[in-house]
Amino acid sequence: NGARQPVFVLVGGTGDLAMRMLWPSLAMLDQDGFLSSDLRIISVAREDCGTDVCVDRIGEAVQKRVGESLEAETLSRFRKRIVHLALDAAHDDWGDKLKAELGDIDKLDIVFFLSVSPSLFKPICEHIERAGLSKAPNRVVIEKPIGRDLATSKIINDSVAHAFDESRTFRIDHYLGKETVQNLIALRFGNIVFEPLWNAQSIDHIQITIAETVGVGERLGYYDEYGAIRDMLQNHLLQLLCLLAMEPPSAITSDALRDEKVKVLRSLKPITAENVQTSTARGQYGPGFADGHPIAGYEAEKGSPSNTETFVAIKAEIANWRWAGTPIYMRTGKCLPSRSTEIVIQFKPLPHSIFGAEAHANRLLIRLQPDEDISLTLMNKAPGLTSEGMHLQALDLSLSLIKAFDGNGDGKPPRRRIAYERLILDALNGNNAQFVRRDEVEAAWTWVDGIVQAWTDTHMKPQMYPAGTFGPVSAFRLIEREGGRTWND
Ligand code: BG6
Repeated sequence: NGARQPVFVLVGGTGDLAMRMLWPSLAMLDQDGFLSSDLRIISVAREDCGTDVCVDRIGEAVQKRVGESLEAETLSRFRKRIVHLALDAAHDDWGDKLKAELGDIDKLDIVFFLSVSPSLFKPICEHIERAGLSKAPNRVVIEKPIGRDLATSKIINDSVAHAFDESRTFRIDHYLGKETVQNLIALRFGNIVFEPLWNAQSIDHIQITIAETVGVGERLGYYDEYGAIRDMLQNHLLQLLCLLAMEPPSAITSDALRDEKVKVLRSLKPITAENVQTSTARGQYGPGFADGHPIAGYEAEKGSPSNTETFVAIKAEIANWRWAGTPIYMRTGKCLPSRSTEIVIQFKPLPHSIFGAEAHANRLLIRLQPDEDISLTLMNKAPGLTSEGMHLQALDLSLSLIKAFDGNGDGKPPRRRIAYERLILDALNGNNAQFVRRDEVEAAWTWVDGIVQAWTDTHMKPQMYPAGTFGPVSAFRLIEREGGRTWND
């Protein structure tokens, strides 16, 4: 934006997400030379701690998060950019006080990052608009939960849209900021070998798993209202599904990409009361052992009965030419045995095997977390002699992204970036390709609302699973019901 001075206004600057993720991300962007030398950062919060105390706390939070990666010189430069303002969104002077700090607003290019409860999006956007701060090129970044269903998401989106048009509304899904998630686009559209096979003719089914070992911890108040389907599936899992299933976009530009993603969401076959029992599994962790600790169980942590699921598995079907007949199994949960995010592309068996049952179908495994690697299981001849014919053996053709990108050549893997680094950089540069468009959010909610309704209509309650296991029995039945499929555990 030409001669305008960039300003990053972090509303909720003393909050938990800001301290754990946003400040460390900004500091690392500064260290890597991505922040303009004249960028100002304004921390806004209700808390009146003053700039000095605020900056000290930020310094500690950044150190805690990135430790040795941070150079002392970066930290002192970074601290000088920051001013803290104590503003209460309940007071009408919010916008005017901020404007007074900003100075000549016509010479500024402002990114507002609202790291606050969505119930504050409306009053804050009103303050911003009333103070004349919402005009182009200024933009706003917001994050989930964007509603807990379609109706409430529309209310939130409408209140933001009053101040900022869609092209200047950046909805974060932090999974889109992960290096390996972005790599899905490179893998699919930067190689010719996969595309001819990337369809229902060759692929038996797809699995997407986001498994976490942690429980709900201190977020129980929020989580109990949302559950796994709203907290993880409506956003992160469906975004991964879109990237895997979308048609090749015409260009790597924001609308070309998002047009293709929204088509996938709109093609999801609705799950209704008729098939919800066979297409979904709901679980809630009970007593057990996870992450090396004894777990009392969700209801014991809450202190009262709850119908909230901490695990969900869904068999999704995409009703279009490419995917009809290839189910996509998704699952996510808390207090599972391992922390991992992975995608399995299970190819179909050979049309005719001259090796009998020894020839297993190929499988492409894309691991996003904790390690980033891609492996394709291929059938090979088992080495050596036999007196009757040859035997086959499955071997992996694998690519470890950590080993491949040894940044400094020092044998150590490069620092794993925080997903927010890329997203904040994109927001500063006005590039919204990796942010979620309103029609995507709404199409995702439409599908999820149907499932939640079907659960209510059929009184389908979560089944208990012991903490430290891979979800309730129904999650295994869901995939094993058809064609001898199993989860890749
Ligand atoms: C968040 C959810 O969006 O994603 C959390 O609200 C979850 O419940 C987190 O733990 C998982 O993100 P990551 O990056 O740790 O896999």
